This record gives sequence, C-alpha cells and structure tokens, in this order.
Amino acid sequence: MRLDPRVRGDDTQLKKLSILIASGATREPLDLVRYLSNYSTGVMGRYLVKAAKKAGHKVTWIECPDKIETALELNAELKRHLPKNDVLIMAAAVCDVRPVKISRNKIKKNKLTSIRLTKNPDILAGLSKRKKRGQVFVGFAVESENIFENASKKLKAKGLDLLVLQRVTKSINPFGDKPIEAYLLEKNKGIQRYGAIRKEKLAGLIVEAAGDLARSACEPGRGEACMRNSGSCACGVS
Ligand code: C5P
Repeated sequence: MRLDPRVRGDDTQLKKLSILIASGATREPLDLVRYLSNYSTGVMGRYLVKAAKKAGHKVTWIECPDKIETALELNAELKRHLPKNDVLIMAAAVCDVRPVKISRNKIKKNKLTSIRLTKNPDILAGLSKRKKRGQVFVGFAVESENIFENASKKLKAKGLDLLVLQRVTKSINPFGDKPIEAYLLEKNKGIQRYGAIRKEKLAGLIVEAAGDLARSACEPGRGEACMRNSGSCACGVS
C-alpha cells in the first residue's frame, strides 16, 4: 500500500494537477462609460492562485474583469480551457444579468430612465454538462438564509464536487480581505465548518481538498480510473 507522502510531512511527491481558476467580478457594459457589476474584489482568487502554485500545481488563472470582462466572455474562455484541466475552481462573481443592448455612444442622462436586462447563463451549470469523469469542480455560494439547504441544492444543480459556502448577514459581508464565516460542503459527504477563517487559510484548504478529490478519482485500480483523455490524469497513469 502506498503511504500518503503527507503522512511523512512531505507533499513534494504528490501528483501535481492542472487547475483552472476564475475569480473577480464580471462587468456588463451598458454604454461607452457605464457598466453593471458587483462588489467582489477578487481577493479569494488571488489567494487560491497563490495556494495552488505553492502546492506545485499548474495554474491557469482567468481574472475578471481585467483579463476577461463579461459573463459571456468568461463562459467562452472557461469552455476553451476546461478540457486541459483536472480541477475547476469557479470563484468568479458572475453578474446574474446584463443589459440587452450595449450602446455604441454615451447614453444621454435624460434618456437613462430604465435599462432592459437579460439573464446571463449559469456558467457552472453549463460547464458541468462537459465535465469529464475524474474532473473536479469547486463552486462558491454566498447565502443569508436556509444556508445549508440552499447550498446543497446548488451543489447538485451546478454539478459540483465541492462548494465553499459563505454566510452573509447585515453585519458580515464576504467582500475584501478579512475573515469570513465559511463552510465546505463535499458531494455526498458532510459539512466542514470553519467558523471565522482568513481567506488565505481557506484558499489553502480548498486547494488541498480539491487536489485530494482529483487524485482519488483517478487512483489506479479503482476500475473507473484514467477516463480522462487530457493526458494529464491526476493519478499519473496515461
Ligand atoms: O447561483 P449563485 O450565483 O449563488 O452561484 C454561485 C456559484 O456559481 C459561484 O461558484 C459562481 O462562480 C457560479 N456562477 C456561474 N454562473 C452564473 C452565476 C454564478 O457559474 N451565472
């Protein structure tokens, strides 16, 4: 039996993975000078990238809105990168809606009385239809009521293996670099409660949990192993 190298305090021998991370807020333009967005700062994404690199993984980072601006662009970019990756960590705060029309000019103030909106696609739910066996999806949820019930529904609906749940109340919001009240839900498993935790520490735990899942999904001898054809199977067997 192979002993987990971490038991010996040595994770250098663990198989390294390809991890795709999306973070930050999407931005949905209205005209030449205006857009819709949200309060996400992208801090969690930066810590996730740092943690994944520190663990030796190959990281593809899609940072919104600097590299990729809108939900539709993010969707296309993730579809492009997904096949080559073992793990997707979807920490982006995707705008739920976008203006139906983007004006080519600056809309005059007196004409700006209402904005027609349309729904953006649920990117994770769409990507889950392209998910290959052995790939691991991690999503995030910010909830204020019935938080575990809502989070469990989200885990299923978006085809996730792990869901990072953050509680939001009148006095606690999850934006920026400060401790948050967080929980980790794993598919078909229990809930890990972290209480108030710093985002940097949480990022390390997320990367570790996702890595463990990706490796165990592809463990040789499980019969269902190595079904991915990316050539980068987490178990190392091609
Ligand atoms: O449904 P809700 O916005 O709470 O879900 C949050 C999770 O779903 C996050 O991981 C976010 O990145 C992802 N999401 C998505 N497409 C959307 C909205 C959210 O992939 N349109």
